Amino acid sequence: MTLSTIDFSKTQSFQALSEDRNRLSSIQLKALFEQDSNRQERFSLLDQDIFLDYSKNIIDEATFSHLVALAEECGLKDAIKAQFTGAKINQNENRAVLHTALRAKPTTSIIVDGENIIPAIQAVKAHMKDFTNQVISGAWKGFTGKTITDVVNIGIGGSDLGPVMVTEGLKPYKNHLNIHFVSNVDGTHIAETLKKVNPETTLFLIASKTFTTQETMANAFSAREWFLATAKDEAAVSKHFVALSTNAKAVDEFGIDVANMFEFWDWVGGRYSLWSAIGLSISLSIGFENFELLLAGANEMDEHFATAPFDKNMPVILALLGIWYVNFFDAATHAILPYDQYMHRFAAYFQQGDMESNGKSVDRNGKRVTYATGPVIWGEPGTNGQHAFYQLIHQGTQLIPADFIAPAITHNKIGNHHTLLMSNFFAQTEALMNGKTKEVVEAELIKASLPADEIARLSPFKVFEGNKPTNSILVKEINPKTLGALIAMYEHKIFVQGVIWNVFSYDQWGVELGKQLANSILPELANNEKIHSHDSSTNGLINQFKAWR
Ligand code: F6P
Repeated sequence: MTLSTIDFSKTQSFQALSEDRNRLSSIQLKALFEQDSNRQERFSLLDQDIFLDYSKNIIDEATFSHLVALAEECGLKDAIKAQFTGAKINQNENRAVLHTALRAKPTTSIIVDGENIIPAIQAVKAHMKDFTNQVISGAWKGFTGKTITDVVNIGIGGSDLGPVMVTEGLKPYKNHLNIHFVSNVDGTHIAETLKKVNPETTLFLIASKTFTTQETMANAFSAREWFLATAKDEAAVSKHFVALSTNAKAVDEFGIDVANMFEFWDWVGGRYSLWSAIGLSISLSIGFENFELLLAGANEMDEHFATAPFDKNMPVILALLGIWYVNFFDAATHAILPYDQYMHRFAAYFQQGDMESNGKSVDRNGKRVTYATGPVIWGEPGTNGQHAFYQLIHQGTQLIPADFIAPAITHNKIGNHHTLLMSNFFAQTEALMNGKTKEVVEAELIKASLPADEIARLSPFKVFEGNKPTNSILVKEINPKTLGALIAMYEHKIFVQGVIWNVFSYDQWGVELGKQLANSILPELANNEKIHSHDSSTNGLINQFKAWR
């Protein structure tokens, strides 16, 4: 079973949506609310303590049904089935895509290459549980018999961003272990981290699917050297280094006891791997039971995604709205704005999730696409963003669809902080939608007793056009289950968009060229001889670097 190769821009639904776009260009969102007092009820969904209000989007009934029809025309139903059942939909790498299997119920059966993969997943989870419990309880001792106080996860991309985002997001559930993350090959990252930890009480998790990634291996070797400078005994490595990887041979060659390796498989994409052994830092940070709740929340979202009709399906709806703005309104970016300080890495996590998946310009037929694909994903927590970049969302020239995410219940009930935060959460989407008309601006200025010529001069600057689309995602509380569900919701959104854009979402050749060139430049930096092998800019930069270093 392979994914369809339909050009969505040639479908009937696309044609209907183009007409909708023209029709809606003269309609203001706020007028749609005035015309229909039940609009929110119509365009919202509640599932798993997540309330998705998508009513503040530039859609009407007809547009919404054309978007849903687009998903159907592009074969989404079959695509979902193909993914969940282990078809090799990552065709360019001949791999299944089964991060959903990692959070499937133990009684499920999913066959890859003739074998049910669930027992192997359960075995690794049992290993993670046992190890987590030993480290948290203090039963796991370092080489001098001391208990572990600090865990350093060394990984990059998907082997870093997910664990960082979740451990930050779930800090209220954290135990006594200090969790650190080192990703950048810039020596500053490891150096500053090592300053904070003690070799006798530190556990290193070397997190790398391939176990060949330059940044991770450089950091891992430096960590080992630092550790051995104190331990002075290779045998001590096994008590302080474990590996999270698919590559047992490379793990062994690095000197990590394969008994201390937590395995995963090639059908887990790097940016979808936090549910696998790559999540060991999460499990150590919040305990295995909470890690399982994270998986359970994701699994419930998987079931919702796989079974709910498209017009009642959160990931499908989010994906279709995204396509609506990218392809019919020329939106080049999409903001993710969590009103929750713990979620401060959520947008960064989905920068990789989304942009590494759908940042493609060749379709599944191998042809250049004739339409836009994945948008730039960005965002910061509210209210910080409000005092930084919201100006452009409100009054700039770009249309920036945005997701506002907030918990109804805070983990920190301090004074009226949460009420203040939430008043901003509600106010922003309302302001973006309604804007402020010239009439209102003028009335305000008259009230402030400004002279008429000053009112005429100032009012254009104070007008807000409004009509800016947003999704509001109100979560009862950010806890392991709801965070798991939220992450899975966005993962599936990305998948749906990739299916419709007719791109392969699960490979990432775009990161290869830079890696190759860096490897070819590396030997050129070994001495101080002048370089002439590149273009004049690259030669000049390298030679200036050599002159200064
Ligand atoms: O950035 C490219 C990439 O391959 C990502 O997809 C992946 O998450 C990251 O590198 C790290 O790879 P690995 O886990 O193999 O070290």
